[in-house]
Amino acid sequence: MVKVILGGEAEVRIHKDTVEKIRIRKRYRISELDEVLRKKRTVTEAKIISSARRSGVPTPVILDVENFTITMERIDGQPVRDAINPDVAEEIGKSVAKLHSAGIVHGDLTPMNMILKDGRVYFIDFGLAYHDDRIEAKGVDIHVFYEALKADFDNWAELWQGFLEGYSEYEKYGQVLERFREIEMRGRYIDKSDANFE
Ligand SMILES: Nc1ncnc2c1ncn2[C@@H]1O[C@H](COP(=O)(O)OP(=O)(O)OP(=O)(O)O)[C@@H](O)[C@H]1O
Ligand SMILES: [Mg+2]
Repeated sequence: MVKVILGGEAEVRIHKDTVEKIRIRKRYRISELDEVLRKKRTVTEAKIISSARRSGVPTPVILDVENFTITMERIDGQPVRDAINPDVAEEIGKSVAKLHSAGIVHGDLTPMNMILKDGRVYFIDFGLAYHDDRIEAKGVDIHVFYEALKADFDNWAELWQGFLEGYSEYEKYGQVLERFREIEMRGRYIDKSDANFE
């Protein structure tokens, strides 16, 4: 039996031990360009998953990459969304510290893109990930996680504290956190000025 999940970017087929992530066609793109981009994104995602794993972050093992399809190990656990607590958030923070030390920006840090299995948090979706060593990119990365926590959890403040506890292992923690605060202020300023136009 195969379970099929249609995500934003891909069709994900869940088999017993493996998962196929097939990047689907974007109809608004000319098909030649669309194919080139999808192949490129597929290869990039697979490479980044492997390099994240080498940096010490739990991810599925990549089994095969072909055209628009990544075949990977199935992580049969609980969605982090249903299992998050401050300790789990701290684990997530430690992993993001490792990613950022390795120059990897995740691009979509949300509890939907992580699975808890045997007490470890697996990062499963690197569809928007890229290499970037700038503080700004990392500040935006953790800001996405902050927004996701605030949107979905009443106890977001303690989850965020847990996350920062773990993330403080990153050597540029201070700089990224400062940038995060600036990004947060920019957001508030824009929200307020939007309201003024109404
Ligand atoms: N290796 C895996 N093991 C178990 N489940 C997985 C695995 N990879 C993906 N999934 C499941 O499929 C869902 C979608 O996968 P993924 O997030 O990689 O695709 P996506 O197209 O980016 O989806 P979305 O746009 O909704 O984030 C995940 O939320 C998860 O439930
Ligand atoms: Mg996803």
